[in-house]
Amino acid sequence: MTLQQINTSSTIAEVNLSNYIINASGPRCTTEDELINLAQSDSAAIMTKSCTLLPRSGNPEPRYQTLEHGSVQSMGLPNLGYQAYLDMLPRLKQYNKPVIVSISGLSISDNVEMVSKFQQSEADLLEVNFSCPNVPGKPQLGYDFEQTEKALAAITKLGDKPLGIKLPAYFDMNHFETVANILKKFPIKFISSINSIGNTLVIDADTESTIIKPNSGLGGLCGSYIKPIGLANVRTFRSLLPKEICIFGVGGVYTGIDAFEYLLAGADAVQVATCYQEQGSECFTRLNNELSTILASKGYKDINEVKGKLQTI
Ligand SMILES: Cc1cc2nc3c(=O)[nH]c(=O)nc-3n(C[C@H](O)[C@H](O)[C@H](O)COP(=O)(O)O)c2cc1C
Repeated sequence: MTLQQINTSSTIAEVNLSNYIINASGPRCTTEDELINLAQSDSAAIMTKSCTLLPRSGNPEPRYQTLEHGSVQSMGLPNLGYQAYLDMLPRLKQYNKPVIVSISGLSISDNVEMVSKFQQSEADLLEVNFSCPNVPGKPQLGYDFEQTEKALAAITKLGDKPLGIKLPAYFDMNHFETVANILKKFPIKFISSINSIGNTLVIDADTESTIIKPNSGLGGLCGSYIKPIGLANVRTFRSLLPKEICIFGVGGVYTGIDAFEYLLAGADAVQVATCYQEQGSECFTRLNNELSTILASKGYKDINEVKGKLQTI
């Protein structure tokens, strides 16, 4: 069996992905040049940086630091403002690849305004970010269940384009169940789980200092550190949500084995942030090859033979 014969294509809300791996919102997806680079890469979709109503320059630097097993960042949503992404969409769509627009309003009414506009656009999927931990003074929507329900009620009645939610990590069974029950009340087509783990602190013992400037040094933790949390969130939501709601697994994907683990946990596709930030778009080619190699070595021909099939002991 050759690697090309392994089927890693997937579907999110009836949108076809040619393979299992796409970029996550955040790294290297803010400008048109970066998005075109993604269009020309082996990422199965083009995900945009989370946009806000107005352009933002984000938090003061340094706001991203590479760590031994990941990164810590407090970017503060630097982006071109949603109108720029609306204008770019027809050009991005020329690459015949799904385009996913990430939307991160600073209020429910911001989200309503942007979702309404993108509902009328050429975007294939809309991912609304309920979990940005890095905007000073703005809580993570996904940790406020009342506001989450209110926001979902407002943004899910604005059109038929498939809408998904980027969730923060949950750590308590009660919270998983509460969120799943809220999501089930609305026509949500997918979730992306998880965002970076907010408000973590990395200290440089040599300088006796914080290593990022915003928020007194607190930032979102990303990369391998958070993979077990991402896997647990995907696995738990897969067991609680109806199968019609698709799941993007996010957090700590650096190798084909990481993607394979998310597949076992039940993810329909994975998103890659820190690895793409560090390595550039060649990582999508490598990850795809590695995933196909693992599947082939285990005698699988199709990701669907493995999806959600995690064994327990
Ligand atoms: C530099 C950077 C910027 C990010 N910006 C966003 C963003 O704008 N919107 C969003 O939903 N997530 C954002 N994230 C979170 C990632 O999409 C992802 O959920 C998180 O980094 C975990 O994935 P990873 O372990 O592959 O990095 C950002 C992450 C990084 C590293």
